[in-house]
Amino acid sequence: MTVEEILASLNESIDLLACDKKPTGLYEPIRYVLSMGGKRTRPILMMLAYNLYKDHIEEVLPSAIALETYHNYTLLHDDLMDQADMRRGKATVHKKWNANTAILSGDSMLVLAYQYMSQCNTKFLKEVLDTFTQTALEIGEGQQLDMDFEHRDDVTEQEYIEMIRLKTSVLLACALKIGAILADAPQKDIDNLYKFGEQIGLAFQLQDDYLDVYGDSAVFGKQIGGDIVSNKKTFMLIQAVNRATGNQKTELNLWLNAKTFNRDEKVAAITAIYNQLHIDRLAQEKIEYYFNESKRYLDAIQVAEERKQELASYVMQMMNRNY
Ligand code: IPE
Ligand code: IPE
Ligand code: MG
Ligand code: MG
Ligand code: MG
Repeated sequence: MTVEEILASLNESIDLLACDKKPTGLYEPIRYVLSMGGKRTRPILMMLAYNLYKDHIEEVLPSAIALETYHNYTLLHDDLMDQADMRRGKATVHKKWNANTAILSGDSMLVLAYQYMSQCNTKFLKEVLDTFTQTALEIGEGQQLDMDFEHRDDVTEQEYIEMIRLKTSVLLACALKIGAILADAPQKDIDNLYKFGEQIGLAFQLQDDYLDVYGDSAVFGKQIGGDIVSNKKTFMLIQAVNRATGNQKTELNLWLNAKTFNRDEKVAAITAIYNQLHIDRLAQEKIEYYFNESKRYLDAIQVAEERKQELASYVMQMMNRNY
């Protein structure tokens, strides 16, 4: 199946997920976030992984919807934690409603995700739920590290990579792995698909961090500069701190330690330092590096090359995204 066909079938099912449920105060925000688009990367990856081995990908539709619902739950809570006002070009749930709504609707989406995930083929139920549960725990760990790092000034690149592996990569890896488990793929392939997803995920989060500075808000759908405002220890900030000297270093430290500041001024000043230090180029090189690393795991998968084509080209297109 093509990605377009997968996307159409996914969106149709997702639209039915919370329809007609009451109370509306709980379900309306769920419908809102699930219907406002998003790339549907995780369910698409799951279905493409399954499709490496089997046709009839509607078999994995409940698990794919589960993963997208889970992902959107993390976004509701993440936007609250990151104080982000805009997502996918619209007001975030805690802005449109309030914090309590984002917490409770988010929690229910996590539960809905489990409800959908447990509808998978019973033969693979334990393995699928074990994988999903382990992943969900790791994402919490990554999100905690992400917040802890805001208050530290000695975060290393290695620590950053481990943090984004946990908060982002494992979900992409889990999507591919569950797709392969449900297709009864050989264990070696399952492991290689997981590793493939991990490398792709690192590139994906690096790209997200890059777009948070260099993206176009109208296309990216999020407010530019959010990471800079909250002193997120992104690869770019870590590189800038390591490379800045003299006045640049003084200015960077001033902004990082400022308790009160004008948002736009801070974003412009730190972006200017990134530009002077060519941090944008470094970030692009890192993205390229992890994308290239991912390829050997895809190469190792024991299915005909032509069967991998759809997955390979989808991932390639993911890397060139601007939203
Ligand atoms: C946003 O995920 C959160 C990250 C892990 C970077 P996506 O970029 O997949 O967001 P949507 O679902 O397409 O909106
Ligand atoms: C998101 O990281 C990771 C999770 C939601 C688990 P970000 O905080 O960078 O994601 P965006 O930029 O808000 O989408
Ligand atoms: Mg965020
Ligand atoms: Mg975040
Ligand atoms: Mg981000």
